[in-house]
Amino acid sequence: MKVPQVRVAAKFAIRMAHEYKLALRTSLLKFLRISDRKRWSPSSSLSENWDERLAIIARLIPDGAPVLEFGAGRMVLKQYLKPGTVYTPSDIVDRGPGTIVCDLNAEELPKFARHDVVVFAGVLEYIFDVPRLIAHLVDVADVFVFSYAITDSYGVRRSRRRHGWVNDYSSADLDSIFASHKMVCDREDTWDGHRICRFVKSAGL
Ligand SMILES: C[S@@+](CC[C@H](N)C(=O)[O-])C[C@H]1O[C@@H](n2cnc3c(N)ncnc32)[C@H](O)[C@@H]1O
Repeated sequence: MKVPQVRVAAKFAIRMAHEYKLALRTSLLKFLRISDRKRWSPSSSLSENWDERLAIIARLIPDGAPVLEFGAGRMVLKQYLKPGTVYTPSDIVDRGPGTIVCDLNAEELPKFARHDVVVFAGVLEYIFDVPRLIAHLVDVADVFVFSYAITDSYGVRRSRRRHGWVNDYSSADLDSIFASHKMVCDREDTWDGHRICRFVKSAGL
């Protein structure tokens, strides 16, 4: 092999090793049931690239409906809501005034005040047991709006773990998690292969 080829091969090997390391780290956290607070603590872990996804999510939220957002990050969603809309942010990290600091993987979850809409934007991927979480929150709101990187688009497990995603649900799995609470998807969209959907109780909206 010539020197440039060796360099390309070496770079590829280094990248693969790094990816394996990230995937292994996620698998260990998943096994031990430890949330990755260290990853999310620096604000540099939050990307402006996700704002586009939040804009799509915001379009599924009825005007003026009080919103409880989990994994609120930079709280950009608030900017997309009508001025004066009640907006309650929650996150594993204190993101500023008004944040309800809560690890959604904690053994004991707190009671949350009733809102009209619960939102998760790029958050459910980091939850060990999504059915348990939804069962806990089902009485908090009649409408759930969220994005999720479905396995229908992101099917390779190692790649999911490399992203830090600790679960693997398909679009049909999400439907059945909500169906068990008599909730149906009445609106949906996509963003970069992620399903964006709104689930409502039969009497909702
Ligand atoms: C991919 S970021 C999305 C941030 C924001 N929703 C957005 O779209 O810009 C994931 C967010 O979920 C939060 N998060 C991760 N694991 C969590 C957990 N176990 N409990 C609560 N929040 C968590 C992170 O702190 C971060 O704010």
